[in-house]
Amino acid sequence: MLLHNLSMSVHENSQPEDQTWPELELPGLPYTDTVGKLHAAIETDWDSLRRSACQTAAGRALWKHVIHDPLAELLAGETYLRSIYEKIKKDRLNNAREISGVILAVRTLWFDSKIEDAINSFDGGATQVVLLGAGMDGRAYRLSCLKESNVFEVDFLEVLQMKSNILQAATDSTNEFQNLKTIAKSLSRVAADIRDNDWFEKLQTSGFVPEKNTVWVLEGILYYLSHSNAMEVLHVIAANITHTSTVLLADFMNKQSITLSSSMFDFYSDWPDHLLPSLGFSDVKLSQIGDPDAHFGLLHDPQNLFNKLRSLPRSLQIHPDDGTPCCRLYFVKACGSPNHTIA
Ligand SMILES: C[S@@+](CC[C@H](N)C(=O)[O-])C[C@H]1O[C@@H](n2cnc3c(N)ncnc32)[C@H](O)[C@@H]1O
Repeated sequence: MLLHNLSMSVHENSQPEDQTWPELELPGLPYTDTVGKLHAAIETDWDSLRRSACQTAAGRALWKHVIHDPLAELLAGETYLRSIYEKIKKDRLNNAREISGVILAVRTLWFDSKIEDAINSFDGGATQVVLLGAGMDGRAYRLSCLKESNVFEVDFLEVLQMKSNILQAATDSTNEFQNLKTIAKSLSRVAADIRDNDWFEKLQTSGFVPEKNTVWVLEGILYYLSHSNAMEVLHVIAANITHTSTVLLADFMNKQSITLSSSMFDFYSDWPDHLLPSLGFSDVKLSQIGDPDAHFGLLHDPQNLFNKLRSLPRSLQIHPDDGTPCCRLYFVKACGSPNHTIA
């Protein structure tokens, strides 16, 4: 997976600075027998698409010194926690320039900060936050900026059911989670396949109101879709701009990223900052890892891969110095409001 592969290159000469490295200890593994059995079922029953939800939760758990997600360890499961832990251990031994999981850590923090900015940008009024492909996202339980927001988690039925079951099992059987409750004003889990044309209807049936200010969070999801499915999802969201103030937050892989990575990925955009205005969005802002708003002090080596990429024109597919492909992950914020919609 790109988020892990990109962080694997190893260099001999740099010394890590401690604050940019995760603690080298395997998280606490707060698992009872019931929770353990649920995770075992994930291992045997789920395909890699669904299991990616646990991988990202594991990344958040290992980077807990900067991401305060109290549910990440519980929802990730031991297999994925160990896997990232072992990679970070190896990176430490090799003084790697890019530490495993750093992309995921930066991405999480970028989305957290932009969600908060978006909510603050709405002049009061009710706010909805829709997490498309929510997986094991714990934001409804951890972000105080969501306390006045109705949150919707959209994912496959079995993913959302499993998430609820794990949380319920942990609440029932461990002191640590006994008082677990959402910070968000409300949380609705919406079982839907966003490749189908009824997902938006299901969202509405679950209480989503097109007229309310909305933040759409498409984190780690678009590139798992085909081009036509991804474009259809973006069109559905864009159609909603005509009703209310909207902020879309999404990450996009460029073509080189999906070409090199596993066959799980399909949709890409080299120019999402051109694509989104063509769909009716305005105020599009694109960031790359290492930019001032996508750094968070986590890139310890100035010679890291991300800084090298940022210094090159985005049109370049191959690095002129070393012939390596320019694999990029773009973080994009776009706005929409009835006043700015292109006819
Ligand atoms: C890499 S995970 C990201 C999860 C979460 N957004 C995060 O960042 O932690 C991708 C998630 O998208 C979900 N997903 C993929 N394709 C989907 C589809 N067609 N409909 C609904 N959910 C989907 C997967 O089940 C998985 O939970």
